[in-house]
Amino acid sequence: MRGKSILGPASGTGFYSREFRRRGATDVLGIDISGEMVAVARELEACDPPGVRYEVGDVSELRPLERRFDIATAVQMLNYAQDVAAMERMCRNVHRSLKPGAEFFALMQSPDFVSDGPSLEKYGFLCEATGEETETGPRFRVTALLDPPIEIIATAPRREVYEHCLRAAGFGEPIWVPVDVSDAGVRAFGADFWADFVAAPHLRCCAAAPDGRPGVFRPSDSYMGDGIE
Ligand SMILES: C[S@@+](CC[C@H](N)C(=O)[O-])C[C@H]1O[C@@H](n2cnc3c(N)ncnc32)[C@H](O)[C@@H]1O
Repeated sequence: MRGKSILGPASGTGFYSREFRRRGATDVLGIDISGEMVAVARELEACDPPGVRYEVGDVSELRPLERRFDIATAVQMLNYAQDVAAMERMCRNVHRSLKPGAEFFALMQSPDFVSDGPSLEKYGFLCEATGEETETGPRFRVTALLDPPIEIIATAPRREVYEHCLRAAGFGEPIWVPVDVSDAGVRAFGADFWADFVAAPHLRCCAAAPDGRPGVFRPSDSYMGDGIE
């Protein structure tokens, strides 16, 4: 990502936006629907200014941006779409904001995740199916094991819903990218700690290119830790 411009739709408090900038991205724009999340991101920017711009905005209603970006990364965004039409609009708006030759990476709960598999407790989460089904996929109760714990009801869209919305927006064939544990993650916690994750990753990345090429995936790319350069 060195030298690239990066759009971060649903940037939250800017964790990834700041990381992309630190790793050499030249221009990073984070957009989030929550004014509170953007306020925290801007506060962090004020403490340690790495040069990320933030805006409050709904990506499903995003205006045309002044410039187009080399890369868009949406970490836990598409799964927030209320229905298929909203996810399609998110994808169209990201597509319109990318240069030809760019790439879109979306990270989300794996569509293959089953809540009766290994517990995620050691990774700081609990995730159980509520039994409800929405237009995009099943609902889950996700508990972040903080002090106090935070519980949200999340939707995990089905694989074909993501693929349909990306194609309908004009992206080329989406590629489902394996999410690996980085060497730094193994060094920090040990291989045993990650064994459950490796056996059944609860996160998945989908890559798609805006100009009809199949999504590009280089095996050296890795989401967790120090693999993205
Ligand atoms: C789980 S958080 C992830 C935040 C960030 N991507 C990260 O990983 O640190 C999901 C974020 O999506 C934002 N969001 C949900 N729907 C959105 C929309 N339609 N447009 C923009 N942001 C949205 C929420 O406000 C929230 O900050």
